[in-house]
Amino acid sequence: MHSFGYRANALLTFAVTILAFMCVISSLSDSLNSPSPSAQVQVLNMNWFQKQPSGNDEVSLTLNISADLQSLFTWNTKQVFAFLAAEYETPKNSLNQISLWDGIILSKEHAKFSIHTSNKYRLIDQGSNFRGKEFNLTLHWHVMPKTGKMFADKIVIPGYQMPKEYR
Ligand SMILES: *[C@@H]1O[C@H](CO)[C@@H](O)[C@H](O)[C@H]1NC(C)=O
Ligand SMILES: *[C@@H]1O[C@H](CO)[C@@H](O)[C@H](O)[C@H]1NC(C)=O
Repeated sequence: MHSFGYRANALLTFAVTILAFMCVISSLSDSLNSPSPSAQVQVLNMNWFQKQPSGNDEVSLTLNISADLQSLFTWNTKQVFAFLAAEYETPKNSLNQISLWDGIILSKEHAKFSIHTSNKYRLIDQGSNFRGKEFNLTLHWHVMPKTGKMFADKIVIPGYQMPKEYR
């Protein structure tokens, strides 16, 4: 009897140890997953560029947004919110950020895409700073997990320029 009780106890201890070990491994595997998303954005056309009666510059772009965000998806990913922003500097603000497009990605299958679109949201400056202005296009994403903390990151694609003249 004594021997049986002792062995059962040892077995239970062993099982609990294994279980704890597996829990640690599975939560680590999520945080150790280092995603490697990629993105390319081309400005296919500057459709028009005007100064509004209010005095603010507005431009209309046609974009080709290609991204592979599949590596952001793990067993613990609920959805990914992505948006593309035009980012530029003005004398007043070191960072002006204007969202041009956004989307919610619900599955890994849809996380690799190429979208040919004009800007979904208006690209308007709070002033008349656009002529010849250099800007970046930045793809931002927010990963919403099933459990745990949300996290965000981005890819900056620098080196775009606004037209020099209104047209
Ligand atoms: C959009 O970009 C992707 C990747 O760079 C390219 O394969 C595709 O041909 C482009 N589409 C257009 C309409 O330029
Ligand atoms: C645009 O990107 C360049 C290079 O990554 C960076 O040095 C610059 O600060 C960015 N501009 C803005 C307004 O974020």
